[in-house]
Amino acid sequence: MTERDPAQPVEVRKGLEGVIAGESSISQVDGQRCQLVYQGYNIDVLVEQASYEEVSYLLLHGALPTRAQLNEWTAQLQAQQALEPQVLELLKLAPPSADPMAVLRTAVSAVAFFDHEAEDDSMGAIRHKAVRTIAKMPGLAAAIARLARGEAPVAPRPGHSRAASFLYMLHGREPSDLQVRALDAYLVLLAEHGFNASTFASRVVTGTRSDYYSAIVGAIGTLKGPLHGAAGRKAMETLLEIGSPNQVEPFVQQTLSNHQRFMGFGHRVYRGEDPRGKHLKRHAKALAEAAGDTTLFAIAERMQEAVMAAKQLHINVDFYAAPLLHYLGVPTELFTVMFAVSRVAGWSAHVIEQTVDNRLIRPLARYVGPQNLKFVPIDERVSASPTA
Ligand code: CMC
Repeated sequence: MTERDPAQPVEVRKGLEGVIAGESSISQVDGQRCQLVYQGYNIDVLVEQASYEEVSYLLLHGALPTRAQLNEWTAQLQAQQALEPQVLELLKLAPPSADPMAVLRTAVSAVAFFDHEAEDDSMGAIRHKAVRTIAKMPGLAAAIARLARGEAPVAPRPGHSRAASFLYMLHGREPSDLQVRALDAYLVLLAEHGFNASTFASRVVTGTRSDYYSAIVGAIGTLKGPLHGAAGRKAMETLLEIGSPNQVEPFVQQTLSNHQRFMGFGHRVYRGEDPRGKHLKRHAKALAEAAGDTTLFAIAERMQEAVMAAKQLHINVDFYAAPLLHYLGVPTELFTVMFAVSRVAGWSAHVIEQTVDNRLIRPLARYVGPQNLKFVPIDERVSASPTA
């Protein structure tokens, strides 16, 4: 049986560029106007006026919570945030050299072992799993970072927001209001973004009617790539490598001559600047000024200008996320994990949306390989170099 009816022409769009692969009411990514809207609310408003708790509720329920609903949602997150001792023991098995995203991928898989609803595909159980996972991600991220540097994980305190809880568990001390506001803005801005690669992966897994945790683990593996979530980590490494503002232009010229990519620049959908960039920049600047060391921020700002002048490339979300996280004391290796701490809300909303109106996601491939080859018995074959 062939893949498709050859009488039906099918256009191949490499990377599915420009293809509308489904309908969604969770977010609108407007590439022409460079706007991002969650469930009808522009992120420019949400980042100023709503917390990550409100935004995660909005994404999963389709409406902003009332005060009572927010209190209930926050209480659920706080009740579920502690990590099972077995999961903590498993994290300790990871060698310090392990990539933090590989550790997170394993940890989320292990969270499922201790969830009696793991294989329950009812909508109520999927929602419970989403709450559990959103609640535990800050603790997982902080524990991964602390264990990698030989420190014991810190247990969460009641009463903290997701942002405050992460900073408290990472550093073992209460964060300042400015730090909590900056991280909360980061979590709001990265929570959801249409059919980006990791979200699409979560929908592909859900489309097979596999379980919630498998969908999130698939999304984590997809986010790990440097063309997606790991770009922020790479952008940070670049800023540190540049070292001083007057080294920016030579670095940009060198990158151009080597035909390399600028990490944290360019976007598949936005035709201009990523709408999240200006907010992250503002918070990064405030943190730099509060820290009394603006060198890294100055390098970033000069690089933004230099790359625009040299290649007309705009920054994307990952660029100013890098100095923001750096000024919060988040280790560079943990940046992609932080992206997952936020994006798990969007992934969960898409798992729910895909489940409600499911159809197996199964595109076609145009076969371009050889045809009608004559089978050669093994002892008569001459070696051919592998093609891939
Ligand atoms: N640095 C240098 N050149 C670039 C860059 C960049 N960051 N981005 C695009 N270009 C050039 C590219 O070389 C190509 O030029 P030419 O036509 O002369 O060969 C042209 O722009 C189009 O590039 P493309 O790769 O066909 O475009 P795309 O839509 O596949 O790329 C992208 C989107 C995000 C993969 C790309 O911009 C990129 O590699 N950026 C760096 C990695 C990065 O920052 N990723 C984060 C993406 S946003 C958040 C997220 O998803 O996590």
